[in-house]
Amino acid sequence: MSGGVRSRYAPPAGRAPLAVALDAPDGATAVRWARAVAPAAAVLKIGMELFYREGPAVVAALRAEGLLAEPGAGGRGAGAPELFLDLKLHDIPATVAGGMRSVATLLPRFITVHAAGGAAMIRAAIEAAPEAEVAVVTVLTSLDAAALAAIGLAGPPDDAVRRLATLAVEAGANTLVCSPREVRMVRSELGDSVTLITPGVRPEGSDVADQARIATPGEALQAGADLVVMGRPITRATDLGGAARAVADSISAGRAPAGG
Ligand code: C5P
Repeated sequence: MSGGVRSRYAPPAGRAPLAVALDAPDGATAVRWARAVAPAAAVLKIGMELFYREGPAVVAALRAEGLLAEPGAGGRGAGAPELFLDLKLHDIPATVAGGMRSVATLLPRFITVHAAGGAAMIRAAIEAAPEAEVAVVTVLTSLDAAALAAIGLAGPPDDAVRRLATLAVEAGANTLVCSPREVRMVRSELGDSVTLITPGVRPEGSDVADQARIATPGEALQAGADLVVMGRPITRATDLGGAARAVADSISAGRAPAGG
C-alpha cells in the first residue's frame, strides 16, 4: 500500500547515518551496548541472534530506557535511534505477511526481507506492514562470486544485485540492502529516490571477519549509500561508545563535501 511511496532515508538532524548492529547473545548485553552507542547512532539494528532469544521483550527493554524512538513526529523517545528489525524474512507470501504483521506491532522503522523470496512475497510484506519500511536484501555481503556460483547464481555479484534490486523496486519496495561496492551501480540503475542501506562496512584496517564485499563507511557514503550498518568493529571494541562516535564522525566528515 503506502510502502512504495516513501521518500529516501535521511537521519535525524545532527546524527550520522549509522546503524549499529546489536548482534548480542542476550538482552542484558544488548541493553548495555545500546546505552554506549545510542548517542552516536541514528538506528539500532536487532537481528536474528538477539530476536530469536529475547523476542519483543528486548525492544520493550530498550524503549523503557529511552534508547529507541518510535517512528513519526511526536513519537516517544524523540531524539533516540530508530529500530531496525533485521529478521530477513523469506517464506511464502502468506507466511511472510503474517510475520510482518506480528513484528510491525513493535513499530520498527525498517524490517528486512530477502529479495530471493520473489516479487509476490515482497508485495505481501509491504502490504502487511504499511507503516514500516520494508528493506529488501539483494545479495548478502558475505557472498563472493564463487559462493554465488555455488548456489546457482553464476556471474559477477553485480549482475545478481542488479536483477534482485530491480525486481524489488518493481514489486513496490523503496529500500534496498546491498554491499557498498554495488551502491553506485544500483543508484544509476534505479535512481535517486531509493534508500540504500549498506552492511559490509569496515573502518580502515579493521578485521574483515566473514564479510567479503566490503568498503569503508566513507567510501559507502561517497558512493551514494543512505545508511551504513556496522556491528563487530564497534561492539567488539573495548570502548563501544568511543568506537561508535569515531565511526559516526568519520561518516559525517565524509558526507560534508557532498552536501549531505
Ligand atoms: O559485524 P558486522 O559489521 O559484519 O555486521 C553486519 C550486520 O549486517 C550483521 O548484523 C548482518 O546480519 C547484517 N547484514 C549483512 N549483510 C547483508 C544484510 C545484513 O552483513 N546483506
